Amino acid sequence: MSKIFLPIILLFIVLNAGFSQKTTHDSLKMHWFGDAKLGIFIHWGIYAVKGTDESWAFYNKKINHADYMAQIGGFTAAKYDPEYWAQLIRESGARYSVLTTKHHDGVALWDTKMNDLSIPKKSPAHKDVLTPFYKALRKNGVKCGAYFSLIDWTHPDYPGFLKDSTKYKLTEHPEKWARFKTFFQGQIAEIQAQFNPDLWWFDGDWEHSAEEWEAPKVRRLILDKNPDAILNSRLQGYGDYGTPEQHVPVVRPKEPYWELCMTHNNNWGWQPQDTFWKTPYEIITIFADAIANGGNLLLDIGPKADGTITPEQVNILKELGRWNKKHEEAIFGSIGGLPNGHFYGPSTLSKDSTTLYLFLPARASGPVVVKGLDNQIKEASVLGTTQKLTPKIVGKISWSAVPGLVYMDVPKSALDEQMTVIRLKLDKPLKLYRGHGGF
Ligand code: GLC
Repeated sequence: MSKIFLPIILLFIVLNAGFSQKTTHDSLKMHWFGDAKLGIFIHWGIYAVKGTDESWAFYNKKINHADYMAQIGGFTAAKYDPEYWAQLIRESGARYSVLTTKHHDGVALWDTKMNDLSIPKKSPAHKDVLTPFYKALRKNGVKCGAYFSLIDWTHPDYPGFLKDSTKYKLTEHPEKWARFKTFFQGQIAEIQAQFNPDLWWFDGDWEHSAEEWEAPKVRRLILDKNPDAILNSRLQGYGDYGTPEQHVPVVRPKEPYWELCMTHNNNWGWQPQDTFWKTPYEIITIFADAIANGGNLLLDIGPKADGTITPEQVNILKELGRWNKKHEEAIFGSIGGLPNGHFYGPSTLSKDSTTLYLFLPARASGPVVVKGLDNQIKEASVLGTTQKLTPKIVGKISWSAVPGLVYMDVPKSALDEQMTVIRLKLDKPLKLYRGHGGF
């Protein structure tokens, strides 16, 4: 081997080893997230004082900036009970929770040293509300997520401000942008050092490019301190999982990991006039849809400025918790289920794919049907009950390899008040017939 090639080959081996090590670690660290299925998002900030849109209220000129910011004087957190919040989240079945550490309005919920715009320094609450919450989450076995807005419309060095005006052009004042980068990256470093989040939920990346945010540097800043941290995708391509917002995917997303974030009603933060609550049935069926397609649901609640969570939100979390507990094995630790066309509803599989879980849509009692299941069913039952089912195989022709249809009657007495789950134990890992009906 020539003297020139040897170092090049060695360098190639070293680089490749480094790369595969990184990808292995990056995929290993995602395991808990893939199994977690449900997270609770919390939008809590000064916008809850008047019940206005979080940050967008002044950006969209529904209220002027000064009036919007004056809300900080009403943020008391007087009835804030982080232990109760954490227990409620645990009770809902969620495995992680993401709280807004700072929204686009720039108000930090922790005692930032990078400026003085924070709940501890400027509000009557006079305290860091993040520390006790993360402590309570960890105590209750719930992973900690930090929402962080890259956008900071109030900061004098941040260019963006209102929908039709900006403070300056980046090209004209690079020194301001340089100062802002030091500022926001400093805040990220603070959150990392103080709370060591399991998950970072960035927002607002759309206002600047990866280069402008220094996205690779931001990613490194976090992973150097905690290589297990998971980053959502709103970091201009430098995140770990997909983040569809409000819209339930119809086609299974391509990313191996994704999370649908969605509001309980129509707004992220508390707004008294918004009583358009999704029902437990709607939330549960949306959740089932997400996990059937291999994703998670990050369901949002918006506490009031005094820290109370309204009864409607509490009820939904509790009902979700009841349903999750009963159907635990079909949800947590499962993987996405059947492709479209085999069953008219969501489904999941055990990780070894020898157990299939069918989520009955539209409160159906039977007979339900599964198509193209090329397995023997060892046992069919209604999950969380003692009810066994007797599958009837219809249309199996002796001389054809095409499997018959599986029909099952589900007695009304065994139905769940929200969504019933049928468990099919299979003879071997799932095998599907995907043909066009020919033999
Ligand atoms: C959007 C909004 C923001 C909200 C977030 C949650 O990005 O800008 O207000 O916090 O969605 O997903």
